[in-house]
Amino acid sequence: MDFYPVNEYGPIMPGLIMAGVAITHVFLAQFAVGGGMLLCYFQWLGMTGKFAPARTFIHGYFKALVMVSFVLGALTGVAIWMAAIQVGPQTIQMMIQNFHWVWAIEWTFFCLEITSGYCFYRYHERLTDREGMILLVIYSFASWGSLFWINGILSWQLTPGVWLVTENVWDGIFNPSFWPSLVFRTIVSLCLAALAACVVINLMPSVTRAVQAELIHRVGKFLLPMAAMPLVGIWYLAEMPADSRSWVTGGSPAMTLFMMGSIAASLAIGAYALIGIVYQKLFINGATATLLLFLAFGATAGGEFVREGSRKPFTIRGRLYSNGVKMKDVIRFRRYGITTYDPYPVRRKKEFPSPHLLTGAWTYRSLCSSCHTVDGMNGLVHLVSTWDPDQMRLNIAKLQQTKPFMPPFAGRAEELEGLVQFLLWCREGRPEKRDVEVPEQDLIKIRLWLIEAGSKPTTIGDSLTNSGEVPR
Ligand code: HEC
Repeated sequence: MDFYPVNEYGPIMPGLIMAGVAITHVFLAQFAVGGGMLLCYFQWLGMTGKFAPARTFIHGYFKALVMVSFVLGALTGVAIWMAAIQVGPQTIQMMIQNFHWVWAIEWTFFCLEITSGYCFYRYHERLTDREGMILLVIYSFASWGSLFWINGILSWQLTPGVWLVTENVWDGIFNPSFWPSLVFRTIVSLCLAALAACVVINLMPSVTRAVQAELIHRVGKFLLPMAAMPLVGIWYLAEMPADSRSWVTGGSPAMTLFMMGSIAASLAIGAYALIGIVYQKLFINGATATLLLFLAFGATAGGEFVREGSRKPFTIRGRLYSNGVKMKDVIRFRRYGITTYDPYPVRRKKEFPSPHLLTGAWTYRSLCSSCHTVDGMNGLVHLVSTWDPDQMRLNIAKLQQTKPFMPPFAGRAEELEGLVQFLLWCREGRPEKRDVEVPEQDLIKIRLWLIEAGSKPTTIGDSLTNSGEVPR
């Protein structure tokens, strides 16, 4: 394993920090993609004379919103890196090793997006219609293009497919869930842009109500693709590995709840859009549009949470566990220890009354802290509060059987015992003095349980035949 410094955030799970930044970013960035396409459409309506008031919209502040969103998108994009290299540096390392040049490609698209977007924003009033249109087409193409490439890397994490065998970069990018995920994200982009446009149109003071209604009706076309969402969703689920699918369809209550919430919000938006805006040509007022936009934010958040969560226990399926341990390294760490070669010491060493407890805290940090805290969110002390020491030993040794979305324990029996003692010590309120003796008997029991548990995750076996995944 390659070791990196580990940051802990007290009672907050690191994953939550990541999720917070990522969700904001995805929302803004997808809006920026759809916004570009919407501007293209309106520029076209205006310049071909099909609907002259479209120009008012182009000159209004929707374009400013697109501009703000890609600036904030860039800021939060960098923030994602900041968060990700703290939460999952080994994941980023593996991404860099495999997709270095894909990122270079994505970056060139991004440059093109920023340049054309800014030029349009700044100069379009001085440009001819045609020139403005060209800039918008470049902007839309480039922003969608950067979505295209990054989507490849994100979907690879969940469904690496034959890449697990070939390690070919294109097998990784065009993995089983690449296309459904790209189509899905494109539809979401259009939807977010349309909803934001409805809010903006309501705020345009210089146009009459009739023109506003007509603008909203035109914008409504961007909500039409939502009708395909259920199908695309099913397609995506079908490409998901069986166990991940089972988490979101009942296996994990939290994930299922988020998934249902996300679907319900999307259905609500979709139904309102199709029936109200498109068929009945209703006028959506500012309040309703804002509400729908909030629902869309909720749906995006739920969707991203589910996508991230359903990879458990992996961050890169079939290769790397969420705690940064490579699948193939579990056996090695069982023999040599997870803390043995870690150059980053545990902070405030002196607070631990015995070396066992220090080992335990260190083991917790290496193997558990990516998904748990000690006594905050998903806190271990709370989760084991009713267990006696032997139950703790058994259930941690067989971690992947205790809950199939946890990876197998990757450390020595001494480290596991230290972890158990550490949790007991925390449960007792971290007394200053605590003598720990570790009877050899307990270690033998743990070793036996570790052997019984095996070094493989519970879930991957039954889903190897799924999604084009091939056994290694
Ligand atoms: C991939 C993320 C992940 C990692 C790594 C992880 N866990 Fe968990 N663990 C979870 C999740 C999610 C739950 C479910 C929490 C719940 O049910 O509320 C859980 C539940 C538990 C439970 C409660 C089980 C039960 O049956 O109630 C214990 C105990 C536990 N984990 C211990 C550990 C220990 C010890 C480690 C480190 C050696 C660890 N976990 C590593 C994600 C993880």
